[in-house]
Amino acid sequence: MTTATNPKVSFHDYQPELESFRAAVLLGLAREHKQIPPKFFYDERGSQLFEDILEQAEYYIPTVEKRLYQEHAADMAQLIGRDAVLIEPGSGSCEKVQLLLETIRPAAYVPMDISGDFLRKASCDLGAAFPWLHVYAACLDFTHELRLPAAVPEGRRVVFIPGSSLGNFDLPEAQHFLFQIRQLVGKGGGLLIGVDRKKDKAVLERAYNDAAGVTADFNLNLLVRINQELEGNFDLEAFRHEAFYNEQLGRIEMHLISRKAQTVSIDGEVFRFAEGESIHTENSYKYHPQEFGTLAQAAGFQSRQMWTDAGQLFGIYYLDGI
Ligand SMILES: C[S@@+](CC[C@H](N)C(=O)[O-])C[C@H]1O[C@@H](n2cnc3c(N)ncnc32)[C@H](O)[C@@H]1O
Repeated sequence: MTTATNPKVSFHDYQPELESFRAAVLLGLAREHKQIPPKFFYDERGSQLFEDILEQAEYYIPTVEKRLYQEHAADMAQLIGRDAVLIEPGSGSCEKVQLLLETIRPAAYVPMDISGDFLRKASCDLGAAFPWLHVYAACLDFTHELRLPAAVPEGRRVVFIPGSSLGNFDLPEAQHFLFQIRQLVGKGGGLLIGVDRKKDKAVLERAYNDAAGVTADFNLNLLVRINQELEGNFDLEAFRHEAFYNEQLGRIEMHLISRKAQTVSIDGEVFRFAEGESIHTENSYKYHPQEFGTLAQAAGFQSRQMWTDAGQLFGIYYLDGI
């Protein structure tokens, strides 16, 4: 349905979370190595905390990535072509796409996100800032489906994934996700994607352990959600944030560590934690350009161009569906 204020902005709710949060938490905490998928960070507060992470000096990605879009917008637009249907899974605040919209001038923009209220607001704000733009916002879980609203016009499809969101997937999942994107854009479609590069361990670990503790709050917000939505009784003081670079696997790991032996009850089910035991909440894989190229090629993409910064911190790739 269209929003009341702007007929060019419509919101389509595919209700991504009806059953899944409860099931994922109960299942994930019953495992030998407790884990909860990162997509559940993003309720409205989680999305806002993520925006706050983007402001932290230690988190280098937004500054470096945004500068690359600013510097190379014309080249990117040429590869994408005019009047494309631009699709952004995990669009968040839709901030980065704004650096490209005037240059690309897509026929339609389709932001997709699991965080419904946040998506709704971001789409309305975008419609106000770019009155010519047709926005078809889709609230969905992109690990389940990449569904385009029926009203989206025909046209060359290009998927845009900034912020290294691909890094949250394990390798087989990343492969599957890229394959799904290749199916969505078809032969002749495109993919513009930002991917964080492997680099010095100290730089990476600083980025995920900001001094202000915002990343810690973001991580702990998962327990707040469980308490609020699933009748949990996590004591937030009894868990702490931990993030480190696992060099062997090429990924930042985020955990919530139990400060003591304790039990927690969720919706009547009881879970035991030993002192020091972790809930693994997120991975963020880092890729050498060749590693990403191989992954994308196996999913049916051919790399056309890559842009990187002088410090080789971050890579943006444009690929064609073949
Ligand atoms: C790492 S943030 C990146 C946000 C933005 N693209 C950027 O570059 O700043 C990931 C975004 O993807 C969304 N997200 C995470 N998992 C998702 C899922 N399974 N389905 C849909 N959206 C998801 C989150 O709500 C969040 O907005």
